[in-house]
Amino acid sequence: MNYRVPRTRKEIFETLIKGLQRLEYRGYDSAGVAIDGNNHEVKERHIQLVKKRGKVKALDEELYKQDSMDLKVEFETHFGIAHTRWATHGVPSAVNSHPQRSDKGNEFVVIHNGIITNYKDLRKFLESKGYEFESETDTETIAKLIKYVFDNRETEDITFSTLVERVIQQLEGAFALVFKSVHYPGEAVATRGSPLLIGVRSKYKLSTEQIPILYRTCTLENVKNICKTRMKRLDSSACLHAVGDKAVEFFFASDASAIIEHTNRVIFLEDDDIAAVADGKLSIHRVKRSASDDPSRAIQTLQMELQQIMKGNFSAFMQKEIFEQPESVFNTMRGRVNFETNTVLLGGLKDHLKEIRRCRRLIVIGCGTSYHAAVATRQVLEELTELPVMVELASDFLDRNTPVFRDDVCFFISQSGETADTLLALRYCKDRGALTVGVTNTVGSSISRETDCGVHINAGPEIGVASTKAYTSQFISLVMFGLMMSEDRISLQNRRQEIIRGLRSLPELIKEVLSLEEKIHDLALELYTQRSLLVMGRGYNYATCLEGALKIKEITYMHSEGILAGELKHGPLALIDKQMPVIMVIMKDPCFAKCQNALQQVTARQGRPIILCSKDDTESSKFAYKTIELPHTVDCLQGILSVIPLQLLSFHLAVLRGYDVDFPRNLAKSVTVE
Ligand code: G6P
Repeated sequence: MNYRVPRTRKEIFETLIKGLQRLEYRGYDSAGVAIDGNNHEVKERHIQLVKKRGKVKALDEELYKQDSMDLKVEFETHFGIAHTRWATHGVPSAVNSHPQRSDKGNEFVVIHNGIITNYKDLRKFLESKGYEFESETDTETIAKLIKYVFDNRETEDITFSTLVERVIQQLEGAFALVFKSVHYPGEAVATRGSPLLIGVRSKYKLSTEQIPILYRTCTLENVKNICKTRMKRLDSSACLHAVGDKAVEFFFASDASAIIEHTNRVIFLEDDDIAAVADGKLSIHRVKRSASDDPSRAIQTLQMELQQIMKGNFSAFMQKEIFEQPESVFNTMRGRVNFETNTVLLGGLKDHLKEIRRCRRLIVIGCGTSYHAAVATRQVLEELTELPVMVELASDFLDRNTPVFRDDVCFFISQSGETADTLLALRYCKDRGALTVGVTNTVGSSISRETDCGVHINAGPEIGVASTKAYTSQFISLVMFGLMMSEDRISLQNRRQEIIRGLRSLPELIKEVLSLEEKIHDLALELYTQRSLLVMGRGYNYATCLEGALKIKEITYMHSEGILAGELKHGPLALIDKQMPVIMVIMKDPCFAKCQNALQQVTARQGRPIILCSKDDTESSKFAYKTIELPHTVDCLQGILSVIPLQLLSFHLAVLRGYDVDFPRNLAKSVTVE
């Protein structure tokens, strides 16, 4: 959205398309845009919608095929919206993609992240009023509902944001929405219930760096039941506070990567915020005031660099991110681990350390790869904190209504900081009075803001859907927490020193592991036509197996299972024969002898194990079909080195199988729905 910064339609398209491409990792089954049509007289504007199934590139091509579009037309103020979809309701198709519209004349259009859980009731109601639906989406209900509210307004001069407010009071679920309307040309209204931020670009000094929050009061006695449901009437005293009134551009986005090339000055919206831009002025308001509300939203400066979200010389983001690990793990430790004094200081936790030390147990919660980081560090956390540690998949933790107490400390591990299951688990634990700690990679994310304290893993933006560098940085963050907790435990001093020495040498050892890429590529050449791949190990490396198998599943679509070697004889052994490819992770750690037993059991059934082992291990290689030899580090950190060959293997398998590594089918990077 720009104000007194003339832009041609071509520039508007390009900004929207580029933004979508940067967000494509969040969803990529279809995409669409809504911009103003040819007549650029403000009063005469109509909205033109272009939508396409497939990736953003397909939409980009489609836009240029539309000969009715004059690309040179210049607008002084213009507001365009665009969306790339990850289907939740209805198959991927142009009609199901966003923006969704109110009617064939496109009077109101909306884009939506999240889910509307009561959309069926609303749809029924609107159908009874004669509205005809064209898509299977929950989002279309919102577009129709706003038109219904507009058509039934009691005053002519109702503001766009008041309309939106009325609409969202009828919606249940999780939603970030951005609306555009022919009735409010050049205006934008957005609401946050899923991640949303606003970038602000201006060459002029802005009139304020803090946007005060405005509240509207609900006049309950004045409730007008226009939906025959719970539509509440609000008083209409809208006041706007200007950020600036000339040459300002506002960018609404669900993720900073979409806008970072335009501005690094952003406002993170909070849940239930409604942001409106009209006449070049931004206002943020809320319907309900709660005691804990911040009275303003500040414009913050992001540290993110454009080149961090570009592929550089790599063929895929995932490959780039695997190769970034020597630096990303270093950045996780930077300024926190003092290798001279053997101390660790996590600034975000230090004020809560006393409370954490007094707790009854630690619960570490996450999904997918983030959960695996919790599994990987459980043992060392138990050892260093001397506390019981539970590790939990967020969805299962909630399904079980797990008992949580005031003297529990709950960790929420999430790369994006937005995963709905993890966020709901966080709110569940907060309600029960536990201290909550976030471990995220995204500054300003919901989890980082809603937790009492936390650690930023500082791995840098991760774009590849299959998480790699975030895993190793989450791993290190949790180990650092254990080290900080054990600083005054005399009996643990030698162990702490050993781990801290291990941390120091990690970046170099990771480089050594990465130099094995060619060997791993050769292995992939042998395996890529297989249907299944088992990954087996135990102890510190059980998580390596789970994570390796997840990588393989996610991007190669091969069946893969991470198997606890201790469970081999209780079932998985039945799968072993000459044909079944098996990777065994056998490291020189306290489980070495037990892993040798598993190895014997596999070879006795004609299994042909590919073994990931330490380079000083002469025993395992005797029974191996193939070995990948890794540098040795402290037992509890070895998983950081042993997961990397599996990351590389999954990458090469996927490439050889001809798949798009960064955009695996059916998956999304950030899953903001339950
Ligand atoms: C999705 C992604 C996974 C990720 C998981 C948890 O499923 O595809 O790569 O591990 O979400 O995401 P989070 O952002 O919470 O770490």
